[in-house]
Amino acid sequence: TSVYGIIGYPVKHSKSPIFQTKAFEYLGINAVYIPFEVKPENLESAIKGLKALSVKGVNVTIPHKEEVIKYINEISQEAKIIKAVNTLKIIDGYIIGYNTDAYGFITGLKEVEPDLSGKTALVLGAGGASRAVIYSLITEGVKIYIANRTKAKVEQIIDDFKTLTKYITDFIQYIEFYRIEEILKEVDIIINTTSVGLKDEDPELFDYSRIEKKHIVVDIIYKETKLLKKAKEIGCKYQDGLPMLIYQGAKSFEIWTGKKAPIEIMKNSISMY
Ligand code: ATR
Repeated sequence: TSVYGIIGYPVKHSKSPIFQTKAFEYLGINAVYIPFEVKPENLESAIKGLKALSVKGVNVTIPHKEEVIKYINEISQEAKIIKAVNTLKIIDGYIIGYNTDAYGFITGLKEVEPDLSGKTALVLGAGGASRAVIYSLITEGVKIYIANRTKAKVEQIIDDFKTLTKYITDFIQYIEFYRIEEILKEVDIIINTTSVGLKDEDPELFDYSRIEKKHIVVDIIYKETKLLKKAKEIGCKYQDGLPMLIYQGAKSFEIWTGKKAPIEIMKNSISMY
């Protein structure tokens, strides 16, 4: 039996064990996928433990995605630029880190908008999750406005993403929240990556009544946030975080097994919950 899993803190709410286990079962692969709760101070010893126990691969979630980079042997190109790793493949104690969140996000987005090139996106937030989203949008030729409370984080993204294109400042522009209304006409896709929608009484990050039917609205949180409710009301095409979750997991599965992930099986396994 091969052992896979997810390390995070907290980790008990993760849906990955459900759909990864289904995928292994469906393809008849002899493997288990276990949630490992790892406190930040135990990350290094946990990674050593994974090697000692011949675990073949893990997903890495909050709060370890950045920190784990210290303990791996090799990092993929996209994870290096994003500065976050969500997938480890372990071969005889040698660890390769990947970021499949970028692929997961863009693959989900293509379900609602297959033709992304030349489009303009408004990204709310510039934290860890936002970086994978922005990376994937740039690689598809999408122009991006980023709104964030802390401007320095947007400047850091521009600086880190320079290696992607010489013309990075043509792709990314900072925008203050209070100026969003001025640019909404040019925007095709609105994406919330902030943690604001997690709370039950989430505040509006800008005046959501200004959203138009032509906007595609995405929130990477797995629930119907105030932003998504408004988008639905207005009649926009919209998406929550579940497609991103499934597709990042599918990509991890493929990295580990070399087999095509059974997407529909994985999706169905969590829509029942
Ligand atoms: P994650 O890994 O989920 O992206 P994070 O790196 O802590 O988590 O990022 C959280 C994001 O939500 C940041 O963009 C943060 O804004 P700052 O960079 O200014 O901190 C944003 N955020 C959190 N609470 C917010 C609030 N009340 N209003 C606006 N933005 C908020």
